Amino acid sequence: MPKPLILVTSASGKTGLQVSLQLRQQGFPVRAFVRRHDHRSRLLEEAGAELFVGNQYSLSDMRRAMHGVQRAYQCAPTAPNGLHFNAVFAAAAYEAGVEHVVTLSQWLSSVDHPSLFTREVFISDILIAMRPEMTVTTINVGWFADNYLMVLDMAAHLGIFAMPLGDGTVKKNAPPSNADIASVAVGALMDPASHAGKTYRPTGPDLLSPNDIAAAMGRVLGRKVKYQNISENMMLKALKALPPDNYSEAAVSQLKIYADEYRRGTFAVNAPTQDVQKTGGRVPEDFESILRRAVSKRADLKPGFIRTLKAVTGFLKILITSAPNPSAIEASKDFVQLATPEFCQESQFWQHSHRPESPVQIADAAA
Ligand SMILES: NC(=O)c1ccc[n+]([C@@H]2O[C@H](COP(=O)([O-])OP(=O)(O)OC[C@H]3O[C@@H](n4cnc5c(N)ncnc54)[C@H](OP(=O)(O)O)[C@@H]3O)[C@@H](O)[C@H]2O)c1
Repeated sequence: MPKPLILVTSASGKTGLQVSLQLRQQGFPVRAFVRRHDHRSRLLEEAGAELFVGNQYSLSDMRRAMHGVQRAYQCAPTAPNGLHFNAVFAAAAYEAGVEHVVTLSQWLSSVDHPSLFTREVFISDILIAMRPEMTVTTINVGWFADNYLMVLDMAAHLGIFAMPLGDGTVKKNAPPSNADIASVAVGALMDPASHAGKTYRPTGPDLLSPNDIAAAMGRVLGRKVKYQNISENMMLKALKALPPDNYSEAAVSQLKIYADEYRRGTFAVNAPTQDVQKTGGRVPEDFESILRRAVSKRADLKPGFIRTLKAVTGFLKILITSAPNPSAIEASKDFVQLATPEFCQESQFWQHSHRPESPVQIADAAA
């Protein structure tokens, strides 16, 4: 019997690319939804994936992408109108009669969360799971290891690991690699019967403190790297100073809330998990190996006067950038606000759903 055709959305993204490549390694036909031709789409084609170039906000595009598809990996980009991405996907999957979906949700996903993006993820999870003939596996992943790679330049050239993560000594995250997150999705896509209705929380093998992360950077980069607990304002300035196609203004306003959850220790609740091993079938990669791989691909991280000068200039650019105001951004974009939002650890539902022994399914949230 031929293997089912699997649609992978956000296929040039961090997890989508890995999901596509791993599925191809397992011999599954893959249709990779990307928004442009570039080096990543070439990689997908070389691996034997069929490319679909389109816009994930467009129902017409998603309908065409869904033609003949039996299973799908749905990853909504971190961009405005996340609910729209997922509504378009759910409608097209319904019409195409898709049998199984793995959806990339969030560790933080909870009903009254202060982040509109996160509330939209929570509603999306319900929406995607509403069609009884289609089974769903949900991946509630936390803070990716990849997020720390964004500040590697400064670590390599200035010896500083700067993020607003609070006390440097407290172990607050077990960061998973993109490939390990993808392995859990691939495990569920290959064998829907065993993973239907399940929620997984892939993590790396160890809980790490910000000081542990700085020390790992130091070992890999071959220099002393010190953790600097910066203010939220400084993080917002740095995010604004990044190239404009990195994060939208709307997304930046939400990243501040995610950093707050980090400091509250939310990503450490019942972490690490065994999900990469059990569902992904592999030993989760430790942070230092993830770093080593990333650094080996970046000649620009090697020491050098010009590179240090560039890092200093980048740092000065951050300093003179005016900090965006998240409340003003939310107001200007008509973000729906709640009177009494709840961070994850204030939410009874979230607390219950993160107990390792009794993960609550989405449908139970309404009960
Ligand atoms: N990062 C974290 O720590 C974290 C933690 C928990 C959950 N998550 C969840 O992870 C998800 C993001 O996953 P990811 O990091 O694998 O994705 P990603 O790397 O952000 O990739 C998103 C991809 O979608 C593409 N894209 C953006 N807008 C598009 C559009 N309108 N039409 C078609 N393609 C479009 C982008 O294309 P280009 O690259 O060509 O621009 C990009 O390749 C989010 O839903 C977020 O909630 C992330």
